[in-house]
Amino acid sequence: ASHVESDLVDVLFTEEQIQARIAELAAQIEADHPVVEGQPDLLIVGILRGAAMVMADMARAFSRHIEMDWMAVSSYGSGTQSSGVVRILKDLDTDISGRHVVIVDEIIDTGLTLSWLTSNLSSRNPASVEIATLLRKPEALTMPVDVKYVGWDIPNEFVVGYGLDYRERYRNMRAIGTLAPHVYGG
Ligand code: PRP
Ligand code: MG
Repeated sequence: ASHVESDLVDVLFTEEQIQARIAELAAQIEADHPVVEGQPDLLIVGILRGAAMVMADMARAFSRHIEMDWMAVSSYGSGTQSSGVVRILKDLDTDISGRHVVIVDEIIDTGLTLSWLTSNLSSRNPASVEIATLLRKPEALTMPVDVKYVGWDIPNEFVVGYGLDYRERYRNMRAIGTLAPHVYGG
């Protein structure tokens, strides 16, 4: 995917940095969720479509069994609003009652998506619900989100790559960065 990387003005995180940080997050999550004989495996829930890459890499960074499931949601509302509507486009296939769940996403921007998902999943009587996100923009947050695992806090800039898109492009880039102005200029 090197041809798309030439559209980057700045590389914020290289493929190597991303993989190293994900390995650390997976190790933390493992340490916080010890295996209990007779209990179901930890369930990680990826939020389509952006979380596809971080899910795939995080799942393989675990050194023990985990389960993977997916949700797709559609959020409406501007980045400056503190409330918005979230609609489920694809729900879990798993009954999470009594399960330990970690929601995995690649970025928290306003916080709307993960704030809503946390309360939605919490209402299903899981043993626990926690959030893991590769990136978070503290300056963009408009609502409180209790995030246990964060890769990096970043400035409030538009970033692409590793699942993050600009008009559906750049998701398949291995690095994360900001786009060159000529890309917006069309
Ligand atoms: C993006 C991103 C997060 C969410 C964060 O997903 O992948 O899921 O927005 O924004 P928020 O904190 O303001 O809610 P998006 O809904 O754009 O869809 P995508 O994952 O398919 O790209
Ligand atoms: Mg998303």
